[in-house]
Amino acid sequence: MSKFYVTTPLYYVNDEPHIGHAYTTILADVLARYYRILGDDVFFLTGTDEHGQKVQEAAERRKMDPQAHVDEYVERFKNLWNKLHIQHDDFIRTTESRHTDRVKELLTSLFERGEIYAAEYEGLYSVSEERFVTEKEVEEGNFREIKKLKERNYFFKMSHYQDALIKHIDENPDFIKPETRKNEILGFLRQDLNDLCISRPKSRLSWGIEIPFDTDYVTYVWFDALMNYITAIGWGSDDEKFNFWWPANYHLIGKDILTTHAVYWSTMLLAAKIPLPKTILAHGWWLSDDTKMSKSLGNVVKPLDLIDEYGVDPVRYFLMRDMVLGSDANFYMDSFVKRYNADLANDYGNLVNRVTMLIHKNFEGKIPESGVYDEVDLGLISMAKTTPQKVRGNIDDLKLHDALENTLAMIREVNKYLETRAPWKLIKEDKSQGSVAATTLAVAADVLRIGSQLLNPVMPERTKVILTILGAHEIPLENTNFDELKAGTSLGEGKSPFPRIDTK
Ligand code: ME8
Ligand code: MG
Repeated sequence: MSKFYVTTPLYYVNDEPHIGHAYTTILADVLARYYRILGDDVFFLTGTDEHGQKVQEAAERRKMDPQAHVDEYVERFKNLWNKLHIQHDDFIRTTESRHTDRVKELLTSLFERGEIYAAEYEGLYSVSEERFVTEKEVEEGNFREIKKLKERNYFFKMSHYQDALIKHIDENPDFIKPETRKNEILGFLRQDLNDLCISRPKSRLSWGIEIPFDTDYVTYVWFDALMNYITAIGWGSDDEKFNFWWPANYHLIGKDILTTHAVYWSTMLLAAKIPLPKTILAHGWWLSDDTKMSKSLGNVVKPLDLIDEYGVDPVRYFLMRDMVLGSDANFYMDSFVKRYNADLANDYGNLVNRVTMLIHKNFEGKIPESGVYDEVDLGLISMAKTTPQKVRGNIDDLKLHDALENTLAMIREVNKYLETRAPWKLIKEDKSQGSVAATTLAVAADVLRIGSQLLNPVMPERTKVILTILGAHEIPLENTNFDELKAGTSLGEGKSPFPRIDTK
């Protein structure tokens, strides 16, 4: 891969961001950082979905003008991303003219080409989902408020693209991931697709992008929001930029919004004759006591509270380590603390402290000279040489929890190596350069250095601290070759930034 364009959903600015929003955004950030380190051209886009009924209602509840409301709420997302050390390349708001102008242009051209038409439609309308739903969906789903509505509206000929979409999914096995979600969509596509109602009469909803060819209507929020993935990178305004980045490598989303992405967005692109994204990846939900965390249920974990208590990097680590991409995961405070103590405070942090302390005490704070490696050394060295490849493979396959487990397994192996060698005993006999004690500490420090580099995209701040403690801050992060931490290098001062959390 040499070009990497990754997106998150555009979050609704109707409430506080919660841990679910943080999860998708951190996931995108980890992937972006990882590929940036590998030298790829990376574009990471996030932003906010600012139109539609949910946002209008949120503004009404606060007795505010919708624009003033979104201007205020967007800051909550921006601030949280800042706090979580998210390095996005752009942040798009759907109220910006660089977006709204392009949405109007696409609407106009689809209308002129007959892909959008006006019709009277009577059907069941879900207020919470802001869309017409089928009888079957009502039977299967648990929509809170269903109304019968008869209205003149504008429709996009989505049905026209059903076969082309099925063909695309069949021919591109990576288009929808994971497999279970792809099968869900193929199942959905076995029934006839309806056309998509893409307008809302202003009498019912005024907060949206006005339909350019009928000013009595605004655009359906999903038709508007999905387009962000192309408007932000210059579609219709900067062809060079657009052609460089598009198609996106990943649209990262939660499984709650799979249909809108895999079906609505894909058919919109087919109609607009724009290539489809390479992969739509739907991850599972963070649950609280087995129910989905959601703003409306009020059972959310607040990321800011966690960060204030435990720091940014441990939160990033936990979210990446404890969710198998694609499956749901329960968020329990005690699993967070256990995971932190076991992996970060104990396996990783303690080890860094032990190795650096021994080098400070016995080798004047400089990486000692290794002698000839024996089988024990070579066992660990071989693991250090293969782990970066394994990690890379797992990241390419979106198995971040496995990538982290590969790295922690290598770190735990350093622990075993030290236990086997017991350099603290060897030192009493011989601590000359090239001795077994010297070799052991040099090898251990270098493998910890490689581990820290591999963990860097997930924990950018604290791994930097550790790399400095190990004297490795000048080694480029992408250089994970063994034996780059040369003999004679001075260690930095300080201790592991992962103190144990007391559990009483
Ligand atoms: O759906 N677990 O915005 P939204 C995991 N504006 N991820 C979660 C989650 C949870 N419990 N809760 C939310 C919208 N998310 C639209 C999107 S895109 C053009 C428009 C994450 O504010 C997950 O990524 O409801 C989910 O898809 C997204 O937040 C929904 O955010
Ligand atoms: Mg939602």
